[in-house]
Amino acid sequence: MGSIGNDQALAPPPSTDNPTYKIASIPADGIGPEVISAGIAVLETLASTYGSFSFTFTHFDWSSDTYLSTGKYIPTNGLEQLRAHDAILFGAVGDLRVPDHISLWGLRLAICQPLQQFANVRPTRVLKGVTSPLSACQADPSKLDWVIIRENSEGEYAGQGGRSHVGQPWETATEVSIFTRHGVERIMRFAYEVARSRPRKRLTFVTKSNAQRNGMVLWDEVHERVRADYPDVTSDKMLVDAMTCRMALQPESIDTVVATNLHADILSDLAAALAGSIGIAPTSNLDPTRKNPSMFEPIHGSAWDIAGKGVANPVGTFWTCAEMVRWLGHESAAELLMEAVENVMGEGVKTKDLGGSAGTKEVTEAVQSEVVRLGKQRGVASGKQGKA
Ligand code: IPM
Ligand code: MG
Repeated sequence: MGSIGNDQALAPPPSTDNPTYKIASIPADGIGPEVISAGIAVLETLASTYGSFSFTFTHFDWSSDTYLSTGKYIPTNGLEQLRAHDAILFGAVGDLRVPDHISLWGLRLAICQPLQQFANVRPTRVLKGVTSPLSACQADPSKLDWVIIRENSEGEYAGQGGRSHVGQPWETATEVSIFTRHGVERIMRFAYEVARSRPRKRLTFVTKSNAQRNGMVLWDEVHERVRADYPDVTSDKMLVDAMTCRMALQPESIDTVVATNLHADILSDLAAALAGSIGIAPTSNLDPTRKNPSMFEPIHGSAWDIAGKGVANPVGTFWTCAEMVRWLGHESAAELLMEAVENVMGEGVKTKDLGGSAGTKEVTEAVQSEVVRLGKQRGVASGKQGKA
């Protein structure tokens, strides 16, 4: 099978001594600014605890307010500015004054697509302090530890289609899904690499080729070819509808999942709900070749109803920050941050959406103190342990 370009190859994180990562922050709308500020505070604490890496943040005021006053979410040379960064930390986009498809295509997809962030990664676990509706997973959280890999550059979100005879009774609209051999191959390889890197080395391939007989059949064929290169990974195939039942009924049988843009969009909401909260899940939009910066965002939206009240749950952003730190190559620092988050939630320091009474600031400060405490306990400060 021929490949276009070389974006099938995954690049490792660069290894530099005492790196300073340039992070572009785009808090955008609603609770975005509050949770991103909380995330930055925690990242600063994490960096100073380790002392072996640091961050500089550049803030971009690209939001629905900016769009309403200038007509653009992203200024003319905006993508070039982003390319000068090591990663992007994104808050949330969405505003009642702007139709959702305009805000999404104006900001988030306008970054993901040109920056080749073709792999969207969504881990799901039952964190301490969170109640899963699945009693078996509540009793034993190891029964639900998934990572969903979402194709993030084409499929049902390709933006192909159009409208004719607008306003007539026979008005017609098409929304065409695009599946390219190249696009499918690169996401399959990425998913197999992720599955291989996890202890269970298990991949569930999701499709709907029984009903959709063109794009989905190509999707299946390319998967079969790629699968042959990963004999050490056990894989199985599920139709997307049946996958919802398996997630609810046999969660322990699932580890890594690969699905199309829309299928994974839906499955990842179900995953987050089964793990107890759709408010705390993270997303990484990765360019696995590392030619462009990757973008990290909490899955929750702009939540205007609670914006500015100091009650937004920052945990989705903390988990997102941990995924960013992991992507930048600091695996153990990412683990420490997640441990701090779970300890704090396990002690009941939680926002209202998780049944607690703490505000954003209280949760943030508790996580910062726990990072410092765990850091001291482990002796992680630079010079004592080497690369984080
Ligand atoms: C997500 C969201 C978005 C998507 C929405 C806001 C368009 O649901 O990141 O999963 O479908 O991609
Ligand atoms: Mg979604």
